[in-house]
Amino acid sequence: MEDNIKVLLTEEEVDTRIRELGEQISRDYAGKKVHLICVLKGGVFFMCELAKRISVPVSMDFLSVSSYGNGTSSSGAVKIIKDLDESIEGEEVLIVEDIIDSGNTIHYLVEILYKRQPKSIRICTLLDKPDRRVADVHVDYCGFEIPDEFVVGYGLDYAQKYRNLPFIGAVVLDE
Ligand code: IMP
Ligand code: MG
Repeated sequence: MEDNIKVLLTEEEVDTRIRELGEQISRDYAGKKVHLICVLKGGVFFMCELAKRISVPVSMDFLSVSSYGNGTSSSGAVKIIKDLDESIEGEEVLIVEDIIDSGNTIHYLVEILYKRQPKSIRICTLLDKPDRRVADVHVDYCGFEIPDEFVVGYGLDYAQKYRNLPFIGAVVLDE
């Protein structure tokens, strides 16, 4: 069965905003190297595009997390199921996420990564649903604040589908 997907943010809107974020990050990290950490899988499209728009030296690593508990919203602590390849000690870390919803995932991730003694940790997310926030999270760079709708595309999935859509769409659930 086909899902009904309505365009929320066009490819052009997303591209333009990622360029702006890249410029802002390049200014903020002037004279430094930034170590991008992608939260798989959703963050991968965003991180690739963002990295191309950053003009200071960049290194990259990847991790994957799963949420303990069940249900559709993450309930609390997360567990790293694919860890980083390299140490982050002394690095200026920028975590790159697809979306922050309850904030639980990023909250726990920051807690885990801080113990590894990076020089700094900041958070960059393509999308933010502030209405859904439960955990106390400071977002440093945000592409777009969006309403409480389930979105797909640009890395975001619905049951592992639609990650490859070049735009952000909202899934309209049929009754
Ligand atoms: P949080 O821990 O509630 O902030 O959840 C964050 C994770 O839930 C994101 O990294 C996504 O993987 C997933 N997620 C939250 N909202 C959506 C959505 O609207 N579409 C697709 N995935 C979502
Ligand atoms: Mg994610």
